[in-house]
Amino acid sequence: MACHARISTPTAQLGLPELQLGIIPGFGGTQRLPRLVGLTKSLEMMLLSKPIKGEEAHQLGLVDSVVSPNDLVNTARRWALDICELRKPWIKSLYKTDKLEPLGEAREILKFARAQARKQAANLEHPLICIDVIEEGIVSGPRAGLWKEANAFQGLLFSDTCKSLLHVFFSQRATSKVPGATDLGLMPRKITKVAILGGGLMGSGIATAMILSNYPVLLKEVNEKFLIAGIDRIKANLQSRVIKGKMTEERYEKAMSLLSGALGYEKFKEVDLVIEAVIENVKLKQQIFADLEKYCPSHCILATNTSTIDLNLIGEKTKSQDRIVGAHFFSPAHVMPLLEIVRTQHTSAQVVVDLLDVGKRIKKTPIVVGNCTGFAVNRMFFPYTQSALLFVDYGMDVYKIDRACTKFGMPMGPFRLADLVGFGVAVATGMQYCRRSQSEGILQVRG
Ligand SMILES: NC(=O)c1ccc[n+]([C@@H]2O[C@H](COP(=O)([O-])OP(=O)(O)OC[C@H]3O[C@@H](n4cnc5c(N)ncnc54)[C@H](O)[C@@H]3O)[C@@H](O)[C@H]2O)c1
Repeated sequence: MACHARISTPTAQLGLPELQLGIIPGFGGTQRLPRLVGLTKSLEMMLLSKPIKGEEAHQLGLVDSVVSPNDLVNTARRWALDICELRKPWIKSLYKTDKLEPLGEAREILKFARAQARKQAANLEHPLICIDVIEEGIVSGPRAGLWKEANAFQGLLFSDTCKSLLHVFFSQRATSKVPGATDLGLMPRKITKVAILGGGLMGSGIATAMILSNYPVLLKEVNEKFLIAGIDRIKANLQSRVIKGKMTEERYEKAMSLLSGALGYEKFKEVDLVIEAVIENVKLKQQIFADLEKYCPSHCILATNTSTIDLNLIGEKTKSQDRIVGAHFFSPAHVMPLLEIVRTQHTSAQVVVDLLDVGKRIKKTPIVVGNCTGFAVNRMFFPYTQSALLFVDYGMDVYKIDRACTKFGMPMGPFRLADLVGFGVAVATGMQYCRRSQSEGILQVRG
């Protein structure tokens, strides 16, 4: 942006994504972007770390011309020469004012942006600092803005928020590199049909995610009534997208056409992946996996959505340990991005590679975890819930505890979450957690 002109290709992505990393744009980014595209758009681009494409950048004034990749260098050369030889204007973006809103209006826009930033993440400081820095430039001129930006940047660079968000950034990218699986040169196999057992809260969410990504799904339930209820849940999940304008009716029909129901295992001979999402009960799951071994083809991946049960126990009555794996989704499964892929010591690398591929295709962030109590997420989450329950035992109000947690920055408190997830799951989970953690030798604080 410090250049006298910018030339882009139509699909190039342009943006200032620094806030995503807990810092603010440096080297004048906070000062130049508002002067090139106006305050409202620049705030949106910075606060949401949202990039735009070349064409939009051209319309907004961020780039001066959009050309094909082949013409890029030649056009830029010609443009530079034209500027040098004064055939085109010599523009310093830092001193442009034509795109800036009048001061009164600018103050209102900044006030609104502050309120939005507070609403979105009450405890994050750096979005507010970014707004302050932008304001300084608009009120006291770009030089003052540059100084403030440089000082603020230095401070934020060493903040805990920045360190943590950098960690998140690299961790997210590291999830696709799994030692002993992705480094063996294996290619993911094609999954053409998926079966899901259980059309309850989780099964219906998983089925929704699958059909939204064009996987044909066979949903199995125990009886007609439960099957219809499961299909209705999937319909409701999709309908809510149609109502919000995120999906067309046509797309809805297409997704629903990929779904079929079943009460028996006859059609399981056609599936490449089964995801079991029935209630959290060891005996039931053991029986189901023994049945799956009988009815599914020998290459079929046998996945369970269990939150707590040892996968070795679930597969105890089978000889298919190498294709048994955890596919642990989070509620609501069609919305939450995380997918834990639980690998036992017997799960084959091929199965892990296949499931990583499915995870990406259904737009999840898959992480491969070990077959231990609570896997990765619940292993961190259970002690947090236990502490909350301990406070209740001491007589504290559940709403007060939830409020303290949301004030700290959690999207909701542990008790509201328990309501949302269903208390049955919480109780079943608690029993499993106790049993497994005792067998793993984890110290129990209570009971
Ligand atoms: N609720 C959550 O937030 C959550 C999150 C992650 C994982 N899980 C796990 O997902 C699994 C399902 O949980 P849920 O909350 O969806 O339960 P749920 O009670 O909402 O649904 C379970 C469904 O399984 C059906 N079912 C039972 N036996 C069956 C069989 N033999 N064949 C086909 N269907 C059968 C039931 O009729 C019911 O509709 C559990 O293992 C749970 O631990 C739950």
